[in-house]
Amino acid sequence: MFDTMTFTKIAGGVCGALLVLLLGKWAAEELYHVGGHGGGEASYVIEVEETEVAEDVEEVSIEELLASADIAKGAKVFKKCSSCHKLEAGENGTGPYLYGVVGRQIAAADGFGYSGTLSGLAGEAWTPENLNGFLEKPKSWAPGTTMSFNGLRKPQERADLIAYLDSLDD
Ligand code: HEC
Repeated sequence: MFDTMTFTKIAGGVCGALLVLLLGKWAAEELYHVGGHGGGEASYVIEVEETEVAEDVEEVSIEELLASADIAKGAKVFKKCSSCHKLEAGENGTGPYLYGVVGRQIAAADGFGYSGTLSGLAGEAWTPENLNGFLEKPKSWAPGTTMSFNGLRKPQERADLIAYLDSLDD
């Protein structure tokens, strides 16, 4: 009962499946080589998982991180800031006081001498997005800032800290 058409279809199907398999194998090998870790098949699987995790981290917005932020952890992160910043309203130190900073106008602490960079941003607000950007790498977000702080690399740390700062003036 095999006419030519049926045979062609079956042959086509088999070829298609083979092609998919070959492409998959090729892709796996490419990834494995790019990854450069030893250990064969298993390390290729780990490689893909790492890539997905990295993408997830970038896709999570500060709002989402804030929704699950831990204020108590944020209070601990603030120890990295407390040598320069006080939390009491009006108490400037090396840096301006941070009471109510979430939502506050940029460069608005009375009596503090801001850099031209932050003064130039006056009128904008310290939204969670702006704080998140500034705290990740102050000197990239605000080139010329006088805040000598390398930044907080971990998104969750920044979210915890912002949630803590935001909780102070509730
Ligand atoms: C070594 C001292 C130092 C450390 C540590 C430091 N800051 Fe600052 N911070 C400053 C100075 C100085 C300024 C003023 C910067 C300018 O005018 O460019 C500033 C400015 C700021 C501002 C802008 C406030 C405003 O009124 O516009 C925020 C927000 C801020 N810092 C948050 C933090 C947080 C949060 C940390 C801890 C993760 C931190 N800083 C760590 C010195 C510091």
